[in-house]
Amino acid sequence: MAEREKLTSRLSFILLSAGCAIGLGNVWRFPYITGRYGGAGFVLIYILFLIILGIPVMVMEFSIGRGGKKNIVGAYRALEKEGSKWHFAGPLAIFGNYMLLFYYLPITGWLLYYFVSFVSGTFSGADTAYVNEYFASLQANGALQIAFMLIALFITAGIVIFGLNKGVEKSSRIMMALLFVLMIILAIHSFTLENASEGLAFFLKPDFSNMVEYGIGETIFAAMGQSFFTLSLGIGAMSIFGSYFTEKRTLLGESGRIIVLDTSIALLSGLIIFPACASFSIEAGSGPALIFITLPNVFSKMTAGSLWGALFFLAMGFAALTTLIAVFENILSYWMDMRGFTRKKATGLNFLILAIFALPCIFGFNIWSGFHPLGEGTGIMDLEDFIVSNLLLPIGSLIMVLFCTSRYGWGWKNFISTANIGEGAKFPNKLRIYCACILPLIIIYVLIQGIVDFFI
Ligand code: PHE
Repeated sequence: MAEREKLTSRLSFILLSAGCAIGLGNVWRFPYITGRYGGAGFVLIYILFLIILGIPVMVMEFSIGRGGKKNIVGAYRALEKEGSKWHFAGPLAIFGNYMLLFYYLPITGWLLYYFVSFVSGTFSGADTAYVNEYFASLQANGALQIAFMLIALFITAGIVIFGLNKGVEKSSRIMMALLFVLMIILAIHSFTLENASEGLAFFLKPDFSNMVEYGIGETIFAAMGQSFFTLSLGIGAMSIFGSYFTEKRTLLGESGRIIVLDTSIALLSGLIIFPACASFSIEAGSGPALIFITLPNVFSKMTAGSLWGALFFLAMGFAALTTLIAVFENILSYWMDMRGFTRKKATGLNFLILAIFALPCIFGFNIWSGFHPLGEGTGIMDLEDFIVSNLLLPIGSLIMVLFCTSRYGWGWKNFISTANIGEGAKFPNKLRIYCACILPLIIIYVLIQGIVDFFI
């Protein structure tokens, strides 16, 4: 068997994992969910979850990869005690990766389409009716969406086929650097707009009334879902990089850095979006259409709006592509590690699988738009996102926590000694009771509460 690939440097590990974490979750999902649940109060709960759940779960997920030296399915098998059934969680996790891409690809396609539209000046001076109609007609146009979804898939597969170092690592380093630069330029620009401070206040000053309107339970559920989603936790998307990483550094220190990077990009996108909306007196909007309707409306009124819009969608595109690349790599490693496929063959096969299964999400906006799986106004994309963010990620994370803390699983001692190999901050042994008892209870409680609130 060929030798397993490894990452060339620590920086690559951090940027690659951060590239996987930073994506639509930060630049699209975070701002609109924040808008829906009333701004700063939601942000506070979200940050709390990043600390109490995100940090320990990320360290555990990386440790499973580091200990098992394989993709998530192989890692469970390698680490579990003989005769136990933890590896059943593996296929569920791989399924989660697929399900995520089924809607991530079409949305990345929308971003690329908007980038092209801004570059070609479509929105300069456009009025609200035109902007609204533009998005509606994209949604109605299945062929156009399929074309751009395929472009996103083609770019992803075209990079990943070059291998871990030359394809995945190199492209993520470049795109991440460009993403940071673009986001900072865009945020500075947003601050200089008139009335920017009103938008900032909405984003940064807690007002708990919206939260009461939606119900505290649902808000907390959404904040937890968002924190798992943004950190890519629970389905082995991160553990794969733990398996490629050298053992020179501890995993707590590295996780901390990744979470800080991820959170800064989420906050930066809020700092770009909300002041811009306030400045042009446009309601921040509360749904997924935020960046496809609200923002183009803002850009169309701005001086040099086509340029700012193009830069904004370029940044969004980079964020989404680094995630697509990382998740695709994870899926490939499953086919290579477990099924003995070559990288080329696995890339080809998955190109086909994804091209086909990304279609239902697209059809949900046109030929199947009568189907409202989660109630009025929802479509197949919402269903897929609900299954991934609100079910598979928390359940997958819960299993990882139990696996790392239970003596019937991998066990605390194995977990902590693996996490703490290398230089850097050590995961404290003192947190054992918290991780073994309280952490699972928080996840279970919020999960049940959220499901009950959502459906009743
Ligand atoms: N974290 C990614 C984002 O913010 C989404 C993701 C979730 C990726 C789960 C992998 C696994 O866009």
